[in-house]
Amino acid sequence: MKRALILAGGLGKRMHSPRPKVIHEILGKPVVKWVIDAARRAGINDVGVVVGHGGKTVKNVLDEDVKVYFQPEQLGTADAVKSAMEFLDGRIVILYGDVPLVRPSTIKKLLENGADMTVLTANTEKPDGYGRIVRKNGEIFKIVEDADATAEELKIHEINSGMYAFNADALKLALKRITPNNQKGEYYLTDAVDILLKEGRTVDTVKIENELEILGANTQKELSLLFRIAREEILVSLMNSGITIEDPASTFVGPDVHIERGAVLKPFTFIYGNSFIASEAVIGPATTLVNTIVGERSSICRSECDEAKVGKNCSVGPFSRLRPGTVLEDNVKIGNYVEVKNSHLFENVKAQHLTYLGDATVGAGTNVGAGTITCNYDGVKKNKTTIGKHVFIGSNSALVAPVKISDNAMIGAGSVITEDVPAYALALGRARQINKEGWVLKKMEANDEK
Ligand code: UD1
Ligand code: MG
Repeated sequence: MKRALILAGGLGKRMHSPRPKVIHEILGKPVVKWVIDAARRAGINDVGVVVGHGGKTVKNVLDEDVKVYFQPEQLGTADAVKSAMEFLDGRIVILYGDVPLVRPSTIKKLLENGADMTVLTANTEKPDGYGRIVRKNGEIFKIVEDADATAEELKIHEINSGMYAFNADALKLALKRITPNNQKGEYYLTDAVDILLKEGRTVDTVKIENELEILGANTQKELSLLFRIAREEILVSLMNSGITIEDPASTFVGPDVHIERGAVLKPFTFIYGNSFIASEAVIGPATTLVNTIVGERSSICRSECDEAKVGKNCSVGPFSRLRPGTVLEDNVKIGNYVEVKNSHLFENVKAQHLTYLGDATVGAGTNVGAGTITCNYDGVKKNKTTIGKHVFIGSNSALVAPVKISDNAMIGAGSVITEDVPAYALALGRARQINKEGWVLKKMEANDEK
C-alpha cells in the first residue's frame, strides 16, 4: 500500500497573511493541492493532510477523498506525523504542504527505494536553515538541525529536503522514541535516522535532481518566485507541444489546463482550473477562462468565462461573460456585452449585443436581438425561459420568466413578454404608437403668441 502524508500544520508566520499559507494560490490552485496532485501522479491514491493553524479553512479547499488530521499544537514535524497515526500504513511518503514543485518522478524514487527510511536530500549552495545530512563512510548517519549543528556540521552542503519515504512499522517505532531533546524543544522527525540505524533498520538517501523541487512558500516573495517558476515551466511545455503563445510575459495557464496543439493564446490571457482548449481555438486577448471547455476553431476575445462549455466554431466577445452552467453548441455567436448564465444555446444561435440570458434554453438558429433580457428572477426564485428553434426576438425585449416561446415565433422589438407565445405567432407586448399630426407646429404657434 502506498500513502502520502502531507504536513501543513505550521502557522506560516512569515507570510504575514490572515489565511493559512498552504491555501495561497499558484496559478489559481492552492499550494497544498499542487503537493496532493504530485503524490497522485506518482500513483498514490491515499492522501492525508495534517492541518493545524486555520485547519478548517485548509480542509475546506481539499477534496473529500483526502483525509484530514488535526494537530492541536505544533510541537514539531514528528508530532505532526504522530497526529495521523491511524493513517500510517504500508509505504508512506512524507511531503510538505508548502513545497509545491516536487515532481511525481521524485516521489516515485522515494517509493521505490526499499529502505525503512529514505531521505530526500539536495546539494545546495546555501544550506542555511536546513537540516544537514551527516555521513559516515559515505552512508547517512544522522540529520542535524541548523540550530543544533556544530561549526563543522554547518559546513555540510547536503541538506534534508524534509521529504521522506518510510515503511510504516519503522516510522511508528521511531515516533515512539523521538523526544524533544534539542535546541527548539520540538519533536524532530529527523531524529528517526539515528533511532532506526540504532535499531538495525535501513536508512538510505535519494538525491534530488532539480533544486526547485524543495523550494517552500514561506514568504510572499517566495510564493511569487514559485509562481513564476511554475508559470514558465507550464508555458514552455505548452509551446513545445505546438501551442502558439504570442506573449508569454502576459499569459497565465494553470497546471490542470489541457490545450491541444494548434491553439493560439493571445496576450493577457488567463486560463485556470480544469479548462480544456481544443485545436485551433483562439483565446484572447484579455480573456479569463476558469474550468471552461472551448471547442475546435472557436474564438473567445476580451471575455470572462467560468464553468462554461463552448462548442466548435463559436465566437464569444469582445466584452462578454459566460457564467457557470452556460453551454454553447456549435456555431453559436455571442457578441459584445452579453451575459449568459445557466443556459443552453443550441447550434447557430446568435446573441450579438447587450443581452442577458439566464436560466434559459434557446433552440437552434434563433436570433436574440440587441438588448434582450430574460427576467429570470422574481425577487424570490429563479425561473426558466424556454425559447424554441428559429425564433426571432426583436431588440430590447424583456422575457418575463417563467415563459415559453415556441418554434418560429417572432417577438416585436421592445416587447415585454409575460405569456407563452405559440409557434409561428408574432407577439407584441408594448404600447401602441400614436402619431399626433401637426402637434409640434401647434406647440410652436402657441409659444409665439406669448
Ligand atoms: C524541517 C526539517 C529540516 C529540513 C527542513 C526542510 C525537522 C526537525 N527538520 O525543518 O531538517 O531541512 O524541514 O524544509 O523536521 N509542521 C507541522 N506541524 C509542526 C511542525 C511543522 O505540520 O508541528 C509542518 C509545517 O507546516 C511545514 C513542515 O512541517 O510544512 C516543516 O516544518 P518547519 O517548521 O518548516 O521545519 P523546519 O524547521 O524548516
Ligand atoms: Mg521550514
